[in-house]
Amino acid sequence: MPETKLKFPKGFLIGAASAAHQVEGNNINSDWWYWEQQGKVPKSGDCTDHYNRFDEDFKLAADLGLNSMRISIEWARIEPKEGQWDGAAVEHYRKVLKSMKSHGLTRVVTLWHWTLPQWLSSKGGFENPESVHAFARFTWFIVKNLGSEVDLWMTLNEPEIHAGLGYQQGVHPPFKKDLYASYKVLQNLIKAHKIAFHTIKQTYPKAMVGIAKNSSYYEPYKKNILNRMVVFFADRISNHYFLEKIKNHLDFIGVNYYFYNRIHVDLKGYHEMNFNFGQGQLTLKDSTDRSDMGWLLYPKGLYYLLLDLKKYKKPIYITENGLADAADSRRGKYLREVLTWVQKAIAQGVDVRGYLHWALTDNYEWTQGFGPRFGLIEIDYTTQARKVRSSAAILKEIEYNG
Ligand code: FCB
Repeated sequence: MPETKLKFPKGFLIGAASAAHQVEGNNINSDWWYWEQQGKVPKSGDCTDHYNRFDEDFKLAADLGLNSMRISIEWARIEPKEGQWDGAAVEHYRKVLKSMKSHGLTRVVTLWHWTLPQWLSSKGGFENPESVHAFARFTWFIVKNLGSEVDLWMTLNEPEIHAGLGYQQGVHPPFKKDLYASYKVLQNLIKAHKIAFHTIKQTYPKAMVGIAKNSSYYEPYKKNILNRMVVFFADRISNHYFLEKIKNHLDFIGVNYYFYNRIHVDLKGYHEMNFNFGQGQLTLKDSTDRSDMGWLLYPKGLYYLLLDLKKYKKPIYITENGLADAADSRRGKYLREVLTWVQKAIAQGVDVRGYLHWALTDNYEWTQGFGPRFGLIEIDYTTQARKVRSSAAILKEIEYNG
């Protein structure tokens, strides 16, 4: 792809994303922490110590040329016991949000990024219908106490991935393999999103409230009818089902893009294929362009997804996109290409308003622990030293119109 100038409309957000449990450290009242102590998932410990180093991290973000950051507020800290609110945790997040502002970063806040307070998890988490009201109450509490410090709201992160990995495949907490349970979780998350959306709008009618939606690009390996059919249904289910359910209660669509899935079905069955969406396994073995996770790298897939999402007639933010690349040998090229495709989508009339890279720093990648290196900034976990990776320089080249 020839190099073009990276130019975006005035006000376009260029930033990075994070999630509380993946960076903060010592999130001791959460379900993940509980399972970490049981030895079911890697321990997160002090993590990147972002809980104490947030100001340093936001300063680094601003120095990289970023104008926004996505964080999540940890429910397990705010409500460590059912109905008991932790004032110190609220004050902590107030400082965090003020620090972001002081560094010139637009504050994109996710209310739930996969971790739950252990008290709720022990009652079934989102499988239990009570969770919907619990989430509404948590949302209400955040709106009342921190609402004026939030610029862009996101209710949920990748609800289908939580339902799939936690309740169907059994690889994330609470490790269930029960299709019906995962269906219930999804239905409750739809309700939770809607009620949170309206809770925010009640106090802040002009607030922009969205969701971070896992968005995968599917393509038939060969254009035969069988492949095309599978592509059609995979796309409908994984990319559109949830959106269709919530589209009347949504101000913007947040796109998390990682997966390019090529479908190949023949008489012998599926090749390297299963229906575990989000795992990047609907792929063939013949591509070399992969991240350290083994995920296929295909920047143009994001462009196709954006063109397709145009039909919802809503603003779009790319709320996550990135790659594990410890050697930092592919990140720069990937980033440049992705941004160029985003630019092209805007030129095609798609209302894209921001791009948030996953992630600002290396972090705790769930069941993979600290192995994968997603950061624009490298973390030395023995000293907690931060070191900017050279690929991040690209972000400084970006120009804004007007
Ligand atoms: C996304 C998650 C995020 C991070 C990236 C790599 O699915 O939302 O927390 O783990 O994958």
